[in-house]
Amino acid sequence: MAKRAHNLPMNAHSATPLRKFKGKLIITLAVLTSLQLYLISISFPTLFRRASRLPLHAEHSLARCASLNVAAGPPANFHDRSESDRFVAGTKPTLLHNARIWTGENNGTEILHGDVFIDKGIIQGVGNIDLRAFGLDADGFAELNVVDVHGAWVTPGIVDPHSHLGDGSSPSLDGAVDDNSLKGTIQPWLRSLDGLNTHDDSYALSIAGGVTTALVLPGSANAIGGQAFTIKLRKSAERSPTSMLLEPPRDINGTNHETAGGHLPWRQMKHACGEQDNFVGLGSNFTVSWTLQERILVGRVYGDTRMDTFWAFRQAYDKARQILEKQDAYCSAAVAGQWTGLGEFPEDLQWEALVDVLRGRVRVQTHCYEAVDLDDLIRLTNEFKFPIAAVHHAHEAYLVPDVLKRAYGHPPAVAIFATNARYKREAYRGSEFAARILSENGLNVVVKSDHPVLNSRYLLYEAQQVHYYGLPANLALAATTTLPAQVLGLEHRIGYLKQGWDADLVVWDSHPLALGATPVQVFIDGIPQLDAPHVVSKPDKFQDLPKVPNFDREAEEAVTFEGLPPLLPKRASTDFVLFTGVRSVILPGRDYLAELFSAQEDEAGVVAVQNGDIICYGTAAACSLDNFADGERVRVVDLQGGAISPGLLTYGSPLGLQEIEAESSTGDGRVFDPLTGWVPKLVGGDDSIVRAVDALQFAGRDALLAYRAGVTKAIVAPVHSGFYSGLGTAFSTGAAHKLEDGAVVQEVTALHVSVGHFGREPSVSTQIAALRGLLLKLPDDDSIGAASKPFRDAGRGLIPIVVEAYSADVIATLILLKKEVEGKTGTTIKMTIVGATEAHLLAEEIAEADIGIIFKPSRPFPAVWEQRRVLPGPPLSKDTEIALLLSHNITVGIGIEEAWSARNTRFDVGWAALEAGGRISKVQALALASTNLEVLLGGGVENSLRTSDLVATQGGDLLSFDSKVVGVLSPRRGSVDLF
Ligand SMILES: *[C@@H]1O[C@H](CO)[C@@H](O)[C@H](O)[C@H]1NC(C)=O
Ligand SMILES: *[C@@H]1O[C@H](CO)[C@@H](O)[C@H](O)[C@H]1NC(C)=O
Ligand SMILES: *[C@@H]1O[C@H](CO)[C@@H](O)[C@H](O)[C@H]1NC(C)=O
Repeated sequence: MAKRAHNLPMNAHSATPLRKFKGKLIITLAVLTSLQLYLISISFPTLFRRASRLPLHAEHSLARCASLNVAAGPPANFHDRSESDRFVAGTKPTLLHNARIWTGENNGTEILHGDVFIDKGIIQGVGNIDLRAFGLDADGFAELNVVDVHGAWVTPGIVDPHSHLGDGSSPSLDGAVDDNSLKGTIQPWLRSLDGLNTHDDSYALSIAGGVTTALVLPGSANAIGGQAFTIKLRKSAERSPTSMLLEPPRDINGTNHETAGGHLPWRQMKHACGEQDNFVGLGSNFTVSWTLQERILVGRVYGDTRMDTFWAFRQAYDKARQILEKQDAYCSAAVAGQWTGLGEFPEDLQWEALVDVLRGRVRVQTHCYEAVDLDDLIRLTNEFKFPIAAVHHAHEAYLVPDVLKRAYGHPPAVAIFATNARYKREAYRGSEFAARILSENGLNVVVKSDHPVLNSRYLLYEAQQVHYYGLPANLALAATTTLPAQVLGLEHRIGYLKQGWDADLVVWDSHPLALGATPVQVFIDGIPQLDAPHVVSKPDKFQDLPKVPNFDREAEEAVTFEGLPPLLPKRASTDFVLFTGVRSVILPGRDYLAELFSAQEDEAGVVAVQNGDIICYGTAAACSLDNFADGERVRVVDLQGGAISPGLLTYGSPLGLQEIEAESSTGDGRVFDPLTGWVPKLVGGDDSIVRAVDALQFAGRDALLAYRAGVTKAIVAPVHSGFYSGLGTAFSTGAAHKLEDGAVVQEVTALHVSVGHFGREPSVSTQIAALRGLLLKLPDDDSIGAASKPFRDAGRGLIPIVVEAYSADVIATLILLKKEVEGKTGTTIKMTIVGATEAHLLAEEIAEADIGIIFKPSRPFPAVWEQRRVLPGPPLSKDTEIALLLSHNITVGIGIEEAWSARNTRFDVGWAALEAGGRISKVQALALASTNLEVLLGGGVENSLRTSDLVATQGGDLLSFDSKVVGVLSPRRGSVDLF
């Protein structure tokens, strides 16, 4: 299957001028003409030129003509190689013994039990290996690195088909933002290689997640953004970008290198449809101080419409077509010896890459989201006759599979995020079921990181999620290995665990599709990448493929409703609901959680609910329905080994204040910052106080999806870009509007500010000075305005102050400030630090200062300088940030950054517990996103059994891929929602 698709672009080329040219060439050859003369001319150049009046450049021009016929792809004898071109002399051979090997063969279904032998940068054997066959005698064994992996899963290295590693490097610094050129709409001449920063902190982190190869694409600010390059992530002895390249295209350094057998490596090209081409025109104002995410989210304020973009594409391709036709006509004449008036071979350095697209020698990678964009793109491919390797992001592809099937040559693969959606209009109809729907329509699905948009260290998590939402396991694993290798035109050497392929492989600590799967070791070109990796021990069941729930109905609805299926919950139509098949009941008390029922083997409990209240739980015998339902209608829901758990709480994103991040009209907007600008007098001037509750919007899609994933409540603070935020609020994610009973859970929770650079003025010291001044306002100071009152209350410990801060230096300053204010006022401040990436450096001091931590994001990444000292967790460190802080008795919660990810909170906490290797219990994990978080954010009213929402899961507990959330019990609202 891989082979066939690989050949398609070439077969598909039959109708182009190149084909006609080939035809003429054959005829010409038959009548003994200048090609033979050309061969003679190589032997006797001087003599020959004089004799036939060949122009001086004839030799060169004919060579150029001949090179037009070389197809892209590996030479037929590629697998005869005995050593990889990337082999590093001195690398010891390795035998992985006793492995469970996912090879990628048979449509991703082949699993072998046995050994893997790697040497010379190549996989030399898989399965039952007799080392004597490799000539390894006693001496050979002395050099051999033998590792018994005790039945561990081994897969090919992960291939990321869409990354900005190195070009959008981390931590993001103004001096190293090289992924978007803003100089024009069409720029096929640019090369991502030219910006590849070898000092990106992400290389080591992504390798630690099993990523071995990545396609580094230019950004998406242009319709044609330039040429992309495939790299292997490992360090090279030369330390240069060039030495990281995998099968570099010819011509990168003017040497026009071609390997034996007429092999021409594939080239790669970035295109982007839709909203993206709108940055151009922002000019120099645009180049500094924007995070990658912000740049992606700016939206179509400036620049081109879709009509402009596609005209620009057509103009560019028309230009390339003209050059191609000139070349072919030239070569027909040259080969026929008709040199008179022919001139030099027609070439244009700016357009040659696009001409190569038309010659079928470039893998076109196109960022393209909506039905309209995909339709535009596919018409373009048919007008100019070139295939597309993959459409990327493609959030509406699952709604228009037939459009993709009409693409010139072959349907593109679809490169998607699993659940990252709705961040802009083009992504609004994105569905978690896209992967399964696309594959059911016969399209190849791959997952991608868009690193650092998603941290590619966790690219495998994308595969786990598409599997959770219904993509078969064989295809989910293929989506990170064999299929992206095929998208890159490199499936002859990466993406499979097969004899003759590159020795890029990962040994996993669990089944790769189990939540939290982490490499035990990663090999690139046969070189082990992890020094003294820390391996966490996991429960045995994690060695098996998770049994994921059924989402057939939801997937069908996604298509029926064109990406916007109704999500508002339906109330159960009876007052009594009986949950059967319950394995575990975890309920909140005051500020804590406890597992109050846990079924023994071969037994399952029941939970009886009346008007949203649990009235009885335990064994079926102990909790019989006859006791209460007294003839009334009872709705019975079999949880099939599921659980009742506390509803989760989300914090950290604008969820509840914003529907589509890039569309300002869908949200509340940003507050005035009295520290950096003028606040109108009508609002209260510098003393204005802003309450998030006044801007709450309900029934947003991210909120309702979160609700359906067990996140029943959110706390949100006013959206801000400076120091000052305002007063937070707590609300129900499942409510239809603000006036619904129980929609607003707590009007005011805590006071929120941010201290840090965040790419803006004023200085951190100025922000601290402002905070000090505000917290020290005297209680009897009559002059204080509205805004100062919450600060004064925070300074007196009456409400918590929640400070967003990332660097250890700012955290240390906040610790001192807290002591200073407490010393002067004689009261205790309730301080919570949010973000806190570098908090692990000060764990003892934070504990001593009695400061709480909300770790956001829950898996750290050095996105900016203030976050650069991450504690990465296994396999790079034994400790995780969360486990370390908990071990110091610090109250810890977790936060998220973007609203779409609220729904994934259950997996975030499940993963945090797994990574801690038994040091965080299930109950402690749940507390990270419920009771702990609530306490840290000043949410106070819900910490009792009487008022807290509960979640019913079917098939397993809330924290695992085995289960599906099927209901929410709300004593507060007196009802049960069933999904
Ligand atoms: C590959 O696997 C998928 C899912 O398991 C299946 O639907 C499809 O038919 C398989 N394709 C081939 C060619 O076997
Ligand atoms: C040009 O690049 C190719 C591919 O990386 C390499 O093999 C060759 O040595 C380079 N030549 C020079 C002169 O740098
Ligand atoms: C850059 O910003 C300045 C000041 O805000 C503005 O006057 C100017 O028009 C902007 N330039 C462009 C190209 O947008």
